[in-house]
Amino acid sequence: MAVTHSAPSIYTAPVVARRSPCREHFEITIRLPSFPDAVPGQFLNVLCRDAQSMDDTGAAMLRRPFSIGGLRRSAEGVEIDILGRVVGPGTAWLNALQVGDELNVLGPLGRGFTIPNHGERALLIAGGVGLPPIRWLCEILRKSAVFCEVIFGAQSRDLLPISFREPPKSDGAFTLCAEDFAREGAACLITTDDGSCGVRGRVTDGLSHWLANAEAPSNVRVYSCGPEPMLRAVATICAERGLRCEAAMERVMGCGMGTCQSCVVPVVAPDRASGRRYALCCREGPVFETARVIW
Ligand SMILES: Cc1cc2nc3c(=O)[nH]c(=O)nc-3n(C[C@H](O)[C@H](O)[C@H](O)COP(=O)(O)OP(=O)(O)OC[C@H]3O[C@@H](n4cnc5c(N)ncnc54)[C@H](O)[C@@H]3O)c2cc1C
Ligand code: FES
Repeated sequence: MAVTHSAPSIYTAPVVARRSPCREHFEITIRLPSFPDAVPGQFLNVLCRDAQSMDDTGAAMLRRPFSIGGLRRSAEGVEIDILGRVVGPGTAWLNALQVGDELNVLGPLGRGFTIPNHGERALLIAGGVGLPPIRWLCEILRKSAVFCEVIFGAQSRDLLPISFREPPKSDGAFTLCAEDFAREGAACLITTDDGSCGVRGRVTDGLSHWLANAEAPSNVRVYSCGPEPMLRAVATICAERGLRCEAAMERVMGCGMGTCQSCVVPVVAPDRASGRRYALCCREGPVFETARVIW
């Protein structure tokens, strides 16, 4: 299904909610009077410092990219969720925001995930802070009655920024354990590297398990977001099984809009003598068909 992408603008919006879903993660919700159409996988480039302050000591000078982790429209405006993990000055500044503080964002940016064709089912795979676009994608797909299953993994239980309805199974069974996905009716398999929650292992172990059991794996489109080694491993497994797969890639970004050329991803280019070219992650991505990416 074709997806149109709206022109980005700069918005200043108040924080209307904040929470700490787990150790090192924060979630903030901003409310804007209006916001263009956007799709999961698209992102905001966020000013992670006080726009008015002249004191730039230790501040994040450049905007920082964050996936749109949820978007709700109502009579009061448009609420957008940003889920993040504190790794440096920009994310530390976001984590310190309180309800009522203002945030300056540029968006919607980039190209998001595509919607499955009629009759296709979706397997959503998220690792660590790759959760936000996958969570929103699940919500959108379930509203379109697409059958979805989710594999979500992190290093350990205290780094899983989700809440549970019931303890996740440790035998590889998909259950309605994860509240974020269960309310959409999507079953989830949790993996942790240290086995402190769900299945011990990586999300790719969950994927291999799923492929060993799925009844109709050829009718599936895989969607993934997480650290690059995880995306590469998921892409390899999908290529071996002939599954169509999309990945939301991350690059260190300057402008987020195709100007600074800092965010390249090598992709196949059959029309070039070299057979390859560089795509800008912020413009052509961040979501790419994994078969196009030269890993
Ligand atoms: C399209 C896109 C969507 C993203 N969505 C989210 C999200 O929803 N939630 C979230 O927590 N993070 C997300 N990120 C990553 C986020 O942008 C970085 O964590 C953030 O910029 C770090 O800023 P900082 O000032 O806190 O840390 P910095 O001091 O800038 O960086 C701290 C460390 O993280 C590394 N780093 C910074 N940016 C990236 C990156 N893009 N990819 C890989 N390593 C990086 C740096 O090299 C450094 O080692 C996204 C990145 C992209 C490109
Ligand atoms: S971030 Fe500047 S070109 Fe992509």
